Amino acid sequence: MLAIMGAMPDEVRHLVDALRDVRTVTRGNRRYHRGTLWGHDVVVVFSHWGKVASAMTATTLVSELGAELLLFTGVAGGVDPTLRVGDVVVATRLVQHDLDARPLFARHEIPLLGRTYLEADPTLRAAVHDAAATFLSEVANAPDTPVATALRAVGVSAPRVVEGLVASGDRFFASDAARAELRRDLPETTCVEMEGAAVAQVCVEHGVPFAVVRTISDAAGDHAAVDFTTFLEAVASTYSHEILRRMLGGG
Ligand code: ADE
Repeated sequence: MLAIMGAMPDEVRHLVDALRDVRTVTRGNRRYHRGTLWGHDVVVVFSHWGKVASAMTATTLVSELGAELLLFTGVAGGVDPTLRVGDVVVATRLVQHDLDARPLFARHEIPLLGRTYLEADPTLRAAVHDAAATFLSEVANAPDTPVATALRAVGVSAPRVVEGLVASGDRFFASDAARAELRRDLPETTCVEMEGAAVAQVCVEHGVPFAVVRTISDAAGDHAAVDFTTFLEAVASTYSHEILRRMLGGG
């Protein structure tokens, strides 16, 4: 069974609406929607924000609900300056940017796991990448569709898909100075969010393949809060739905 997680209702709303034969179970203040999505057995949940909330949700998915594969979908702040709002990042690997147990362990190293970077599953991430690339090329080739029109309305133009390092931590980046500091600490970072690396750690420790796909909602700088809110309300759920639909063969 595939588990699909987002951090906010706006990131998974259209996916929940598309579920068939839904059975909802509540555990620890989370509602897990199990059902069929374009013929696949899935569970969809929003985890709330941050590393603890998302790790707890991922643990329930894996150890109680039997998730065999996990995909996190949502938005992120762009840290690589070439990224634009509406671009999609598929994580190759993830790091907890706020983890610092020096001098006992190296900066960013996960104590006792002996690792700093957690790799996403190559097969799952290739499938997500292909689906995102297909979605964005369809948007580019059909500019009059409702989805393309909605993206244009929030200033998205010619979005692309990239792969790379995703940094996660319990901080919303909303200043140019904070973003610059993150770039100095972890120069390879494509984008920053608040859950991916925590979910990755749960999956790695349980031996569950996972992938993380993030759409850039803001540039993690001085205007982040405004851009983030606009993007989230307008199209975040559309991205998750459209990418998953192509990945799961929903036409
Ligand atoms: N998710 C989306 N935008 C973000 C930002 N600027 N900082 C952290 N997480 C985010």
